[in-house]
Amino acid sequence: MGKRILRRQDFGWKFQLLRIVSPFLFAAGFCTYWLESSKITLRRWPLDGQELPVPMTGPLRILHLTDPHLSGNAAVRRLENAISLGLAQQPDLALFTGDFEFDDREDLSAAVHAALLRLGTAVPTYACLGNHDYASGEHGKAVRKPQSRLADIRACLAKCQIQLLQNQRQEIVIRGQRLAIVGLGDWWWGDMKGKKCLKMAGSEDLPVLLMSHNPDTHVFLQPFAWNVMFSGHAHAGQFRLPFTQRYPFAPLRDRSLARPGLHALKGGRVLCESAGVGAYLGVRLNSPADVTVLDIGEGVSANAPEGPAPAAPPQ
Ligand SMILES: [Fe+2]
Repeated sequence: MGKRILRRQDFGWKFQLLRIVSPFLFAAGFCTYWLESSKITLRRWPLDGQELPVPMTGPLRILHLTDPHLSGNAAVRRLENAISLGLAQQPDLALFTGDFEFDDREDLSAAVHAALLRLGTAVPTYACLGNHDYASGEHGKAVRKPQSRLADIRACLAKCQIQLLQNQRQEIVIRGQRLAIVGLGDWWWGDMKGKKCLKMAGSEDLPVLLMSHNPDTHVFLQPFAWNVMFSGHAHAGQFRLPFTQRYPFAPLRDRSLARPGLHALKGGRVLCESAGVGAYLGVRLNSPADVTVLDIGEGVSANAPEGPAPAAPPQ
């Protein structure tokens, strides 16, 4: 005997209920997607400079921006909003950790140029490269040679008074403090050359603020001397499982590093991970974009207004 084919009438009230609630579920899902994708959270983290490998007395306020992925008008508006939000915190220094994803042309659009110039003229600003900055055209489809592309990016950033550090070190004095800013090339592109721009651990006199796009790289950088590493890349997974700190889609070896905030690492070092300004395909759920402000000072975490202590170092 053949199986009876199920018909609409067999579901009765369940089918009617589904028909009524499905438009509301769809609308709620769309609104969540739309609102989440345009929302930018300000995250402020305090850090006691005396606990770092090369102690810092501070005060020093660092604005950390990353991953704008400037591939459309919505992304440019998010960058403008992120820069306005960041500059309102009156930082001493800005660090931009890559994945600009500029259009495939020699110059910036007027809006992107204006936004980045506003940042670069307001505060000393340094940048490193992300994996999306080495190829042009569609993702992963390199229609121009990376070195030609990188020369354009360097020139574009220089016009905005932002200094690109590609495996380079820059020593500066801010608020009477001498420190070193180091920017690494991208690990996925085989362009991370720590020996070229970092001293070995124990042989450094200056506090080093390190920009490395991919947070997974901290394990390869342990032999070197640095205080705080600033990273992005993970976009906080663009989706966080509700009520957890799990980011199942983060493109990392160690997905725990996708959590935005401070992560305590071995040797007293700290990772400052940002969820970033933009997102791949513009999609975010339960994982908003962010702008990060790090306040380094003497005993600053003792009476900090917000932000937890760094999570425990990995074993
Ligand atoms: Fe990115």
